[in-house]
Amino acid sequence: MKDEQLKELLGEMSLKEKVGQLSQITGNFFMEGAALVTGPMQQLHINEEDVKLSGSVLGMIGAEVLIQLQKDYIEKHPHHIPLLFMTDIINGYKTIYPIPLAQGASFMPELSQQCAAMAAKEAAASGLHITFSPMVDLVRDARWGRVMESTGEDVWLNSLFAKAMVEGYQGEEIRSKDKLAACVKHFAGYGAPDGGRDYNTVQLTERTFREYYLPAYKAAIDAGCKMVMASFNTVNDIPATVNKPLLRNILREEMGFWGVLISDYGAMEETICHGLSADREEAARLSIEAGMDIDMMTGIYAENLEGMVKKGQVDEELVDEAVMRVLKLKNEIGLFEHPYKGADVTREKEIILCPEHRELVRKAAESSFVLLKNEEEFFPLKKEEKIAFIGPYVDRKHLLGAWSPMGDIEDTVTVKEAAEEMLEGWDITFSKGCPVMKNVIMAGFNEFHEKGCSEIEEQKLLNAAKIAAEKADKVVLFLGEHYLQTGEAASRGNLDIPEIQQNLLAEVKRVNPNIGIVLFNGRPLVLSGIEKISKAILDVWFPGSEGGRAIVRTLTGACEPTGRLPMSFPYCVGQVPVHYDEFKTGRHYTMEKGKERYVSRYLDIPNAPLYPFGWGMGYTEFTISNIQLSKFEMTKTEKIYASVVVENIGKQKGTEVVQMYVCDVVASVVRPVKQLKGFQRITLDINKKMEVVFEISEDMLRFFTVDGSWKSEPGEFILYIGKNSATDNQTKFWLLE
Ligand code: BGC
Repeated sequence: MKDEQLKELLGEMSLKEKVGQLSQITGNFFMEGAALVTGPMQQLHINEEDVKLSGSVLGMIGAEVLIQLQKDYIEKHPHHIPLLFMTDIINGYKTIYPIPLAQGASFMPELSQQCAAMAAKEAAASGLHITFSPMVDLVRDARWGRVMESTGEDVWLNSLFAKAMVEGYQGEEIRSKDKLAACVKHFAGYGAPDGGRDYNTVQLTERTFREYYLPAYKAAIDAGCKMVMASFNTVNDIPATVNKPLLRNILREEMGFWGVLISDYGAMEETICHGLSADREEAARLSIEAGMDIDMMTGIYAENLEGMVKKGQVDEELVDEAVMRVLKLKNEIGLFEHPYKGADVTREKEIILCPEHRELVRKAAESSFVLLKNEEEFFPLKKEEKIAFIGPYVDRKHLLGAWSPMGDIEDTVTVKEAAEEMLEGWDITFSKGCPVMKNVIMAGFNEFHEKGCSEIEEQKLLNAAKIAAEKADKVVLFLGEHYLQTGEAASRGNLDIPEIQQNLLAEVKRVNPNIGIVLFNGRPLVLSGIEKISKAILDVWFPGSEGGRAIVRTLTGACEPTGRLPMSFPYCVGQVPVHYDEFKTGRHYTMEKGKERYVSRYLDIPNAPLYPFGWGMGYTEFTISNIQLSKFEMTKTEKIYASVVVENIGKQKGTEVVQMYVCDVVASVVRPVKQLKGFQRITLDINKKMEVVFEISEDMLRFFTVDGSWKSEPGEFILYIGKNSATDNQTKFWLLE
């Protein structure tokens, strides 16, 4: 349809119909008899007519169901306007790849792009149009459960992933049957709740907000992202949902986003709980005035907007403006011509979980694993060794993470299954040792009652594990968080692995101290304790459908762990939030200051995290030479080339992720000690070396200056090139006026 036709359509629609386009409800409202007026409808204060006119549906999947629903809906709709089907496809639809934090660890945005394209293909065949992804909230506080949905603590890395994911979902032609529209979220600053407690207040200075938190949303928007979801939190003490300066000035005017804006689940109503809106009417008015287009699951628009326009309390133009954006999106996606878009029952069966998709997610998992420690070359394991695989994750199907509701755990390959399939002739025993948690009590979740086991059974599991450990040369313990300890509403004050698993580790250690750990987690955990009693730790996050195979291949050296931490792993909870790009202080602490007191440090713990951002090892060893610069000074239009020689001095072919960081020595505002500005993955055979060259240009040196603009300031810069953010391999260069 042309814009003119859309305008005509808008002109013909009744006010009630228009408001319907701005209302999103879950699929169960459309199922016959499932949402009786006395049930969920009553809770949302909406009636059957509102349901019939609702413009979009949340969380419903499946080609057959969605084709039928669309058909019935269009027939009954006064102007036959199709529905939009949206849901959360975060790390895969049915073929699940690693959680976003793990994807961040790959330092391979191009791989996430391929994964997003694969997820879009599967979901589009199942009839979906929009995914509520990517989540690009910058995260620095491991207590927050939703760090698993982010690609980490670095603003630039997050921006690369934001762009890659949007491009993966949407491709070049959003109308294509294989594509989904992307909805970037949660705008804005949701990743910085006070104390790491979900939904809590966010307090950021304007500079921190703009310089660290906004760029990844901007990267998604610049990549053409069709939708933005506002966050639950306040920004400058106003909930984002009704925050006019944030949504109209920053998002629309400054960032140039003219697509559809949606509120988060129930968020309009929550503005009343915040004490910002007096009632549902006020919430409706403030939301529409702020430019909020779609109301997700409160019924506030459906209940109030029509009446408020009629009473002159809300300007109809605001409604028209929002409806027009929704119609345009439906048109861009091609729904007026092809209301079922990619929905195709046969194709759905063909492509979902097909071998090609499984192979891609296996590679994505392998690329995300981070080898945190590897004393005495514990990993890779060798065929001639007698090995005991012990732990609740040895044969666990729950490897998909907390935000893969469409994925079926039965489609997941466990470590044990993979080992039995792939390791013929190896001497490996398998024992569970203990349940993941003693009692999983997590109110609010459907699956909160995963059972532990009786004390007798517990003892049996432990005894069997100890016997197996005693007989083995090496013990590999598969430990980690319960997936429900991560994700939304899963903030934690303690960042340890569950106590029952700590006990298993201690007991096994008594009979066999030759221990390596494979760790499953959705966030940085505090590993200071278990690090001391294990020779190696391989972090595999929540690796997805092919997790088992990816782990077995990595443990046996068929592939090498090449991931690098996208978030610092704290030494203890008291350090949190801890991130590598901290600001310089007036009393900055360095190792040389030893035990000096009046410096910015703790008395009882180090300042540095246990494992810093960018950290990760492989199965070989690399050296990185001093930095050579093509010149020491550059004007704003020139470039400097910085090079290092990287050499594989280890015992096998391997990959290093060479990282470049920059520090602005003197500026009009205080700058971070270091910021990631480049990285390259280098694969080299034994005894081979190569020159790795980074380009430095003026745009990398820009920041949000004291006058509120993005620019660089001439002067001295320190350049670091090394294996992680703690590198001290440095030189200096100058930017000239
Ligand atoms: C989450 C969003 C999600 C939405 C819809 C909310 O609770 O915060 O990230 O997209 O639900 O499922």
